Amino acid sequence: MSVRPILIAPDPRLKLVSEPVAEVDAQIRTLITDMIETMYDAEGIGLAAVQVGVAKRILVLDVDQKEGTRAPRVFINPVITWSSEDSEVMEEGCLSVPDIWDEVERPKAIKAQYLDEHGVPQLLEAEGMLAVCLQHEMDHLNGVLFVDHLSKLKRSMALKKLAKAKKLKKAS
Ligand code: NI
Repeated sequence: MSVRPILIAPDPRLKLVSEPVAEVDAQIRTLITDMIETMYDAEGIGLAAVQVGVAKRILVLDVDQKEGTRAPRVFINPVITWSSEDSEVMEEGCLSVPDIWDEVERPKAIKAQYLDEHGVPQLLEAEGMLAVCLQHEMDHLNGVLFVDHLSKLKRSMALKKLAKAKKLKKAS
């Protein structure tokens, strides 16, 4: 198991559209193990493979982790099959867009199908935090960041703040 470096926006690799996983083999299982390790190390609640530079349709989530009780969920080739008309606004952040938080409106509830870490087809109905997080991570698979959902003004403010933080980091 190893923690992999997380790509930070505006890294062009974050814009890639991820490829479906053809087979859940040993290489994919290692990637998943590393992604889980990387997510917890970064104190995140979700991570897509593309955020560690592997453009494959895999994501990991753990939205209700508490000290000592980790229950990571793995989604391979996830597809949203239904979204509610009702939407909800929640504050979001992203490990690839550090220190920026903003409100994003998304469908409140979703249904998704995916393969689990054993390659077994699964169905999930989700709402609340899990639905938000799953939609956020699925955006990553299509090269979309949460800041892309913000108004032009808010997005440019967020990206300026990010560029400034990157510069400071380089200088220190
Ligand atoms: Ni993210």
